Amino acid sequence: MTRVLVLNGPNLGRLGVREPEIYGAASFPDLVAAAERWAGELGLEAEVRQTDDESQIVGWLHEAVDTRAHVVINPAAFTHYSYALRDAAAQVTTSGLLLVEVHLSNPAARESFRHHSVVSGVATGTVAGFGFDSYRLALSALAARLGS
Ligand code: DQA
Repeated sequence: MTRVLVLNGPNLGRLGVREPEIYGAASFPDLVAAAERWAGELGLEAEVRQTDDESQIVGWLHEAVDTRAHVVINPAAFTHYSYALRDAAAQVTTSGLLLVEVHLSNPAARESFRHHSVVSGVATGTVAGFGFDSYRLALSALAARLGS
């Protein structure tokens, strides 16, 4: 089965507690369950992970390349400044794998420091602003692109 790593950056483990008016009332375990279910329905095998650590998420992107897994990634605040994450994401897409950037909120409609993503330029595509549904749409676009 086609493997997808669903990677989540800093503070996303705090979903449900953190600014629920922006990110919603559901928890990270709720997101894991939903993403695994959606992936299964699409014929994909998703592994959902979260870290607050930049080197960890860079390592997971290297793992995606080495194990030929596609990626759905919410880089959270790393989106806006981590060139290390961007360079690791570039290795995924230049190796022929798909990488979809997702955001729960719509960063373009928020503070100006969120308007720029250093990741978008090396992503296959981006889905933002639909809450948990951003992940469902990303998985669905990935499955469609793969023809699965
Ligand atoms: C986020 C948007 C980022 O600007 C923010 O730093 C996050 C979450 C989102 O999913 O909307 O932590 O990536």
